[in-house]
Amino acid sequence: MRRKLLFGNWKMNKTREEAKAFAVESVALNKYALAHNIDIGVAPAFLSLCGVKKMNPDLTVAAQNCHFEDHGAFTGEISIPMLLDLGVTWCLVGHSERRTYFAETNETCNKKLLALFANNMTPIYCVGETLAEFEANKTKDVIKEQVLVGLKGLTKENVSKLVIAYEPVWSIGTGKNASTEIAQDICHFIRELVHEQFGEVSEEVRILYGGSVKPENVKAYLSQKDVDGALVGGASLKVDSFKQLIENVVSE
Ligand code: PGA
Repeated sequence: MRRKLLFGNWKMNKTREEAKAFAVESVALNKYALAHNIDIGVAPAFLSLCGVKKMNPDLTVAAQNCHFEDHGAFTGEISIPMLLDLGVTWCLVGHSERRTYFAETNETCNKKLLALFANNMTPIYCVGETLAEFEANKTKDVIKEQVLVGLKGLTKENVSKLVIAYEPVWSIGTGKNASTEIAQDICHFIRELVHEQFGEVSEEVRILYGGSVKPENVKAYLSQKDVDGALVGGASLKVDSFKQLIENVVSE
């Protein structure tokens, strides 16, 4: 049985104090979620990772990016050993904003996934098509390439711990949700692709939907068979709204 997972992606938001204030308030929230078999986590900016962990050591905390090399001449980058040094064991990989603005490719995502698993970390690998690709009916081609190249060389054991987030680029931060049918169809397609490559372990992979998820629509997504959770941007920034997301998933 796959556990539900609600993950907040804070992007380039919140000062250290703001992040810490959220973390303090999230202590009760995390307990409530876990009591209802829901895992929650947040991905703050690098500078706030430490503060969030300190204020709520039980909350899962992810970096939003990492470099695949352990160290070297890569000005401005953060390595996996640096994250581990802070006790951070989760990391987003290939978010569409990194692909669009920072030239992240399926190949670099693959290097990051391999490096994260080599360090026993848990990646959330983001995939999704642009509006032009969606309109040209190319969604499945794009997703297939992202999944096949991204997961190249992983072991079955790696894959059992992997989280994949399907985030159609056209729905991120736009308020234009993908329908629950699209979310289910593509999350199911992703699970099938993983099954073709890695076998039965595909049933253990948690697949999230992301893109304008709000308290009002979160339950409908998570009711879909192959949607195991959500990656949430805007609606994860305020603790009240994050709380509402969790409560709405729990509600009957
Ligand atoms: P959004 O962002 O919820 O604000 O659309 C989602 C994401 O980028 O992960």
